[in-house]
Amino acid sequence: MGQLSNPRRGAERRLYTQLRAQIEDGTLAPDAKLPSTRALAETLGVSRTTVTAAYEQLAAEGFVVTAVGKAARVATPAVALPVVATVPRDNPPPALSRYGQRVAALKPYHMVSPTARIDFRYGAVASRDFPALGWNRAYRAELIKRQPTRPNGQPEGEAALRQALQGYLRRARGLTCDTEQLLVVHGSQQGLDLCARLLLNPDDAFIFEDPGYRMARYCFEATGATALPIPVDASGLQTQRLPDDPRARLAYVTPSHQFPMGAVLSIARRVELLNWASRHRAWIIEDDYGGEFRYGQRPIDALQSMDAEARVIYVGTFSKALSPQLRLGYLVLPRELVGVFREAKRLTDRNETRWEQNVLASLIDSGAYERHLRRLRRDNEGRRKALLDAVDHHLPGLGKLEGMAAGLHGVLLLPHLHERDEDALQAMALERGIGVYPLSPLFTTQGERPASLILGYAGLTVQQIDEGIRILAQVIREVMAAAHPPLIPQS
Ligand SMILES: Cc1ncc(COP(=O)(O)O)c(C=O)c1O
Repeated sequence: MGQLSNPRRGAERRLYTQLRAQIEDGTLAPDAKLPSTRALAETLGVSRTTVTAAYEQLAAEGFVVTAVGKAARVATPAVALPVVATVPRDNPPPALSRYGQRVAALKPYHMVSPTARIDFRYGAVASRDFPALGWNRAYRAELIKRQPTRPNGQPEGEAALRQALQGYLRRARGLTCDTEQLLVVHGSQQGLDLCARLLLNPDDAFIFEDPGYRMARYCFEATGATALPIPVDASGLQTQRLPDDPRARLAYVTPSHQFPMGAVLSIARRVELLNWASRHRAWIIEDDYGGEFRYGQRPIDALQSMDAEARVIYVGTFSKALSPQLRLGYLVLPRELVGVFREAKRLTDRNETRWEQNVLASLIDSGAYERHLRRLRRDNEGRRKALLDAVDHHLPGLGKLEGMAAGLHGVLLLPHLHERDEDALQAMALERGIGVYPLSPLFTTQGERPASLILGYAGLTVQQIDEGIRILAQVIREVMAAAHPPLIPQS
């Protein structure tokens, strides 16, 4: 949004391109020290934020190595660059498919701050929260079992895990299904990709929460389908705005904790959404990415449990409760979709994580998984409280947290700043070792909105949370002092 016309972005791009070219042609040799951000900013007459952002980009791509308190250096060995053959003009290379061209055109998804000492990255979980002892024990037991001679897993996943999940989903999410309807996938992302490829055509449209989960939107847009963004409020997706558009073939929703704003979709709206899907013969994808984490009250049952017409595809993941590195997720499919999803899954990867799937099944069956979840909920409740307290303490009257009733992140609304200030906030916070993430890239529509930052807390200690917000508060005050007229007048 407006990025091309943003002069800082232009300067950042130019600097990045120049430095990269110098690294590639050897002018800047491997291990060469780069000037400090301050010195280079002064020499070039640009802001330090611009230089830092260019360095960060080079570091993210492996051209440069940065570390807090140390000078940035050219990576050693220098990044191996693909050899580009000279292409004769009369013999251009084979073209990408239209799908490939759409994927190539997607805006890159950068969600890491490699130099952040305290990183509020959402989606991260603390590795110390992983139940390593129980997992190791179960893994050893699995390894010494005599494996059946079947060389490949079945596309639907291990029977033991599907059986264990069936019971877990009934107990925890009020969701009833046959084991047949369960398809184990490599994280919900693979499940979303299968949905996109099997359910959407290029002329179709899909309902998408605004703001919403960008990695889902990218999957759907890559098919050539068009997003129909629907705003969300404190009760979730504004279902009264669902369009009567004959192109709409599916709706992607996060009803248990709207991503990223955190609302729980009200019962009345759940009914309205199901009725809309029925009228339009559309599928609903229910992404339950954080359904286990609701504080104070029992988690609300899954939308799928209200679905009388088998329209809902439920997407679950173990990325929050165990680790995103496991890449273990699952779909609960309407019966008529089971066959085609299994075959598409077979084409993709045949489903080979058999050991991990069986280990997880044994943890669920023994009750260890649900004990772990209860412990994790308590720990995350402590982190959540630390974040609420820190914002109260360090940002009185300047920032407001939204969407904290469930999940593992909140949205910090900064009514005195404009969303165009989000990049500066992010870059200045990173200079002080704090990773924060702007909300605006998650909107499909453009608008005049106050600045907001997404703050994930599940990977941090309560001390880090307090310190991170204390430093962020200084940054916010500095950006405010650099004076923008308030978007929403102070009351
Ligand atoms: C809305 C949403 N869905 C799903 C996921 C999880 O993806 P995966 O299961 O592929 O790790 C995330 C991760 O952050 C998310 O934010």
